[in-house]
Amino acid sequence: MSKGWVHGGTDALGVPAHDFSTNRNACGPCPQAVAALQAAHCAQYPDPSYTELRQQLARFHGVDMQRIVVAGSASEFIHRITMHAVRQGAQYVSLPPHHYGDYPQASQVWGLPVVDRASHAAGPGLHWACAPSSPLGLNENLDMHWTDTAPAAAWRVLDCAYAPLRLVAGPRLPFLDSVWQMWTPNKALGMTGVRAAYAIAPVHADAHELAALQQLAASWVVGAHGVAMLQAWITPAVQQWLQASLEQLRHWKAQQLQLCADLDWAVLPGHQANYFVARWPARLHARMPEHLAALRGQGIKLRDATSFGLSGCVHHSRPWHWHGRNFKRGKWHEPTDASRREFAAAASRAGHRFVCDGAGYQQQRRKKLGHDRAVRLVPGTGLQGSAVQSAEHE
Ligand SMILES: Cc1ncc(COP(=O)(O)O)c(C=O)c1O
Repeated sequence: MSKGWVHGGTDALGVPAHDFSTNRNACGPCPQAVAALQAAHCAQYPDPSYTELRQQLARFHGVDMQRIVVAGSASEFIHRITMHAVRQGAQYVSLPPHHYGDYPQASQVWGLPVVDRASHAAGPGLHWACAPSSPLGLNENLDMHWTDTAPAAAWRVLDCAYAPLRLVAGPRLPFLDSVWQMWTPNKALGMTGVRAAYAIAPVHADAHELAALQQLAASWVVGAHGVAMLQAWITPAVQQWLQASLEQLRHWKAQQLQLCADLDWAVLPGHQANYFVARWPARLHARMPEHLAALRGQGIKLRDATSFGLSGCVHHSRPWHWHGRNFKRGKWHEPTDASRREFAAAASRAGHRFVCDGAGYQQQRRKKLGHDRAVRLVPGTGLQGSAVQSAEHE
């Protein structure tokens, strides 16, 4: 049963052929991590206490192993720590101005009211932050909330989901040792279909608290593939792949920003990572759901940012292109010429003027079709005035 929250990515229509709607690294899936998954021991349970994995993660972060809590995913951890905080007496929750839907969803389940950020210092409560934030990619100013010592029975959780996808250096976070850090590498690795994450407990968390949190998890909360992904995550080869991918993401993002400017979409400022939010021209707002549904019908998924409290806006990240036939053959792959052609065909069926923003392919197509860089919907398709951009692989 649906929880009623909106997510990007795969939906009831299947995997979008051209997905602008999630923040995942569009260079992924990381080939080295995929190889690790393929070699995973799927015939066996993982170690239920994840001893080796926790040692490896602890070494990677330079923290004590006792501080590592393995989680089924960040979403699972959000629900678990909310339940834990409630059991320990939390009476309210505070959230970043725009936020991932599972924070309030978990709080709602437990009847925790949402309070203003300014009440942050007063415990007992659960406090969420995300750096860089989602969906805006901002550096939230946490200094005024989190630099003081946390009162007893205050749970401060920093969601680090997109920290590895920062494209510009972020501020120093001096309070890291005194908060819960939540890490979910599947986004940075471009493999959000694999579910596994971990948290780093604050230095002051005692053994009772860590045991209580552990006991709230089902046995083997992460399966063999999740373990393989987390172990791959901390290898030098995968970290090098990630660093190289950031270069590519910077390049693509610059192209996308230019395309938004060409389309008269106003990009909300301050974005630091591979994603951002753009406001559509006001004349398009009223029919936005219709436009987005029509695009989705053509395999192009853009995410309405209304559920983040940003109406009239769409969430943006570099589109990830998927070619169903290759996937069915069990291949993970980069976008192919075939998937580009499929995008072009879908776009033109919807009455778009198709454009591609990559080098050789783009020039070739532009010359052939005489099109500009944007994909635009034209009158008579029921989608008049809406627009979507494309920035293809080079
Ligand atoms: C900010 C943020 N935190 C956490 C999550 C959940 O991550 P996971 O895939 O590990 O459940 C998401 C997913 O979109 C997210 O955007």
